[in-house]
Amino acid sequence: MTWRSIPEELLLKVNQILVDLKSYDEATLQHCLRVSYLSRFLADAAGMTSDEILQAQFAGLLHDIGKMKIPIEVLNKPGKLTDEEYHLVKRHSIFSAELLEPLVEDSFFRDIQLLVLHHHERVDGLGYPFNLQGEEIPYISRLILIVDTVDAMTHKRAYRKGLPLSVVYQELEKFAGTQFDAELVAIFIEAHKKLMDSNQVNAAIPLAARIKAA
Ligand SMILES: [Fe+2]
Repeated sequence: MTWRSIPEELLLKVNQILVDLKSYDEATLQHCLRVSYLSRFLADAAGMTSDEILQAQFAGLLHDIGKMKIPIEVLNKPGKLTDEEYHLVKRHSIFSAELLEPLVEDSFFRDIQLLVLHHHERVDGLGYPFNLQGEEIPYISRLILIVDTVDAMTHKRAYRKGLPLSVVYQELEKFAGTQFDAELVAIFIEAHKKLMDSNQVNAAIPLAARIKAA
């Protein structure tokens, strides 16, 4: 399966979601595009099948679309969130899944919906929304949590600088086995170091080029 085998009308729906996200919060769209690229990269490095790699690419692309349902002043609040705001922000993975409802008659997007729903579950069971543990969490959801965290740490925001990669790798290792799938962390670090050395990081964000919103 390739993205070309996804029905055109469904790709148009995905595109519309991304156009909406771009107009709501461009930074979240850009984050989703980077996470999509890096999810595909890690899925490939982990030896997944081409179908799973495509799932990782789309789940990465769509994982945070639910942030459109979070008031913009909460989403972009530079300081600490109140308990109530944090509770709302934590609902974004449910909102992402809900926004995919119009696509789920298609089995590919039904899988994506599930992957997106669980992208903040942690292997130690302390994630959200359902406190799933270890292998209860879909493998690609565990993958996205790693990539999502890497992007959040490396990408600078208005109110803080991005962290150096050495620190990012240390953080991943520190939380391997609690937040993160330990095996996927090891695969990510090894493959990502090679990617950085190969100097091809900016070569392409394959899907981004095809999204009219980008
Ligand atoms: Fe998220």
